[in-house]
Amino acid sequence: MGTDLDELLAQARRDVETATDARALEALRVAWLGKKGRITEGLKQLGRLPPEERRQAGERLNRARDELTQALEDKARALSEQALTQRLAAETLDVTLPGRGSGAGSLHPITRTLRRIERIFTAMGFESVDGPEIEDDWHNFQALNIPESHPARAMQDTFYLFGGARLLRTHTSPVQIRTMRTRKPPIRIICSGRVYRVDFDRTHSPMFHQVEGLYVADQVSLADLKHDLQRFLSLFFEREVEAQFRPSYFPFVEPGAEMQIRWGDRWLEVLGCGLVHPNVLQAVDIDPERYTGYAFGMGVERLAMLRYGVDDLRLFFDNDLRFLEQFA
Ligand code: FA5
Ligand code: MG
Repeated sequence: MGTDLDELLAQARRDVETATDARALEALRVAWLGKKGRITEGLKQLGRLPPEERRQAGERLNRARDELTQALEDKARALSEQALTQRLAAETLDVTLPGRGSGAGSLHPITRTLRRIERIFTAMGFESVDGPEIEDDWHNFQALNIPESHPARAMQDTFYLFGGARLLRTHTSPVQIRTMRTRKPPIRIICSGRVYRVDFDRTHSPMFHQVEGLYVADQVSLADLKHDLQRFLSLFFEREVEAQFRPSYFPFVEPGAEMQIRWGDRWLEVLGCGLVHPNVLQAVDIDPERYTGYAFGMGVERLAMLRYGVDDLRLFFDNDLRFLEQFA
C-alpha cells in the first residue's frame, strides 16, 4: 500500500489543484474522504493487517486524510475568493456616470393653460369661484333663459343623469346664476372647470374645460367686454393674434357674440359672450334697470391648441407621454 498511497495522494492533490469549482471539489472529497472514499476504505481495512504494520499504515492514512482535508479547504477558500474578485470586477460602479434622475413629472398642458388664464384674470381684478359639475335643469338652462322646449337646448347635446333629474353641466354658465343668487353687484368673477357634451371631433371632445367670466355693476357695456377680452388675449398669447367678434345667439345674453381666432386658413371659435340678458338678472333678483353686466365662456382646449400649435384637441386626452412631455 505504501508507494501506492503516495502516488494516489499526489494524484488527488493535483486533482484538487486543478478543480475549477465547488462542485468538483465536493466530488473529490466524496471520492477520497466520503463514507466509501478511498482513505475511509483504507482505514476500515487496517484491522486485516498484521499488528506490526497496522500502526504505521494507520498513521500514514491519518496523515493523508489530514493533508487532503487541508488541501480541499485551501482550494475551496481560494475558489470563493476568486469568485468574489471576479464579481466585484464585473459589478464595477462608475460613480462618474450621470444619475437617472427621479422623473419629477410635470403639469398637463390643459392644467398649465387653465392656471395661465386664471392668473391673467385674477390680475385683471376677477375673483375665482367654483360650481358643481352635476347640475339641475334650472341652473344649467331655465335660469339662463332657456325654457324647457327651447331649441337652443339642441345646441348642447346633454348627458342626463338619474332619468333626467340631474345633468352634467354643459357649460360653466350656471355658475353665473349661483354667484348672482348669493352676491350683490358689483360682481367680477371667473369660474373654471370641466363641462360635458355629446361631442367628438378634431375641435370637440365630450369633456372639456371652460372659463366663465361675469362682470355685473353700474353701466357695464359692450365696450368693457371687448376691452377686457382683448386685454386678456394679448396677455395670453404674448403676440398679435388675429381675432374677430361675430354676432351670435345665446339666450342668456343680448346682444351676443362669438370670438374667433385665425387658425391656419380657418377661424377657430374660442368663446361666446355678450351682455347679460335682463331675464337672467330678473331670475336672480338683480334689478336690470339698475345694473348691467357682461359674461363670457371660453374653451380652454381651444386656447391651448392655438397657443401650442396643436391641431387636434383630442390629443390632450390620449395621455400619450410622448405628446405630453413636449409641454413639460
Ligand atoms: C357656451 O357654452 C356659452 N355658455 C358661452 C357663453 C358664456 C356665451 C357667457 C355668452 C355668455 P359654446 O357652446 O359656444 O357657448 O361654447 C363656448 C366655447 O367652448 C366654444 O367657443 C369653444 O371654444 C368651446 N367648446 C364648445 N364645445 C366644445 C367641445 N365639445 N370641446 C371643446 N371645446 C368646446
Ligand atoms: Mg358656440
